[in-house]
Amino acid sequence: MKELQKTSKISGFYKLPMKERIDYVKKFSNLTDDEISVFSSTMDLEIADRMIENVIGTFELPLAVAVNFHINKKDYIIPMATEESSVVAAASNAAKIARIRGGFTTEVSEPQMIGQLQLLNVSDVAGAAKKILDHKKQLLDLANQQDKILVDLGGGARDLEVRILDSPLGKMIVTHIIVDVRDAMGANAVNTMCEALAPMMEELTDGKIRLKILSNLADKRLVRAKAVFDKEKMGGEKVVDAFLESYTLASIDPYRAATHNKGIMNGIDAVIIATGNDFRAIESGAHAYAARDGRYTSLTKYHKDKDGNLVGEIELPLAIGIVGGAANIHPKARLCRKILGIVTAKELSEVVASLGLAQNFAAVFALSTVGIQKGHMSLHSKNIAVMAGAQGEEIEKVADKLVKEGKVKLDRAKEILEEIR
Ligand code: MEV
Repeated sequence: MKELQKTSKISGFYKLPMKERIDYVKKFSNLTDDEISVFSSTMDLEIADRMIENVIGTFELPLAVAVNFHINKKDYIIPMATEESSVVAAASNAAKIARIRGGFTTEVSEPQMIGQLQLLNVSDVAGAAKKILDHKKQLLDLANQQDKILVDLGGGARDLEVRILDSPLGKMIVTHIIVDVRDAMGANAVNTMCEALAPMMEELTDGKIRLKILSNLADKRLVRAKAVFDKEKMGGEKVVDAFLESYTLASIDPYRAATHNKGIMNGIDAVIIATGNDFRAIESGAHAYAARDGRYTSLTKYHKDKDGNLVGEIELPLAIGIVGGAANIHPKARLCRKILGIVTAKELSEVVASLGLAQNFAAVFALSTVGIQKGHMSLHSKNIAVMAGAQGEEIEKVADKLVKEGKVKLDRAKEILEEIR
């Protein structure tokens, strides 16, 4: 087991009994018995009641781990919370192929978030914009007085940018405050700063501040991940070409790009949820970034290298935290971070981007070869068998027959069940 502890490369992980999978993760991530038992218990209702209003219970999702990930020369087992079958298996398989040529490498920008202040009813727009910029230092100082801890940790408000926008209401000034939020997602810090700056901005100008809120288009907090997918393992250069043909549609057509990016988010959302982060923020940031040039397009890019291997890259904003919010309150989220073994938000974002690329590669690879229904149907058929009333060994028997017949339907499952009984 000593050797196993060091590597996330595990073939046939999905075939192991659940107990052995749990033991593997426990050893890999140095989890205690108490910690591992948290995963099979539901959240304390008192914790839930403090997280949101009007609580009446908790809502479960399956939690799985993707294996085989090698990112920046380190092995990761990635926890994923999702209801969609095939997603975890697909990610693990993509990571296995990426591993052959060194796994994933990443680049991450500074963790800078943007807060917006909307200034209306200004008589002299150019003059007001100049006044704001002339008082940049005072405004940044005031912002930083709101969060001494963040400043002590090396973060804080870094810059102010002023934009003048035409609107049906006339010209408005939108000031962006750029804040280094370190290991936090940053919404609380940025929103507090925005609200603190509003009175001073109104005093400096003769305008009225309306909105003062974080922007989820976090395009100053970008993550890039890259991997080379081995052409032989993919089935040869013809398959790489077929992959590139499929990808090309996502690069030119928003109808396909939306589905292509949905596949990326299948992976990203699953780890974002497992680590207690705000998946709506990540989703809105990703899709807005995908449309940054005025036309919605793919968040990934692919090309062939000189040897015919497939090179994949992803770039997207990732506003992720490991301090504050649900990331620290949710007991399973804390333990999912322990499974990952990450200690900074930066490292978590590297894992998330790599998983997004792996998920996208897996989907487009399947779509360019056997299609996705084959993978989907094997688990789906088991659910249909259970819905038809199958129990114990019957489940596997009914599911197998459904898949063999290529007709995974409830009415047929009921017929098969009657036949075998
Ligand atoms: C399904 O959840 C995701 C896919 O549609 C993604 C894609 O088409 O690339 C398979």
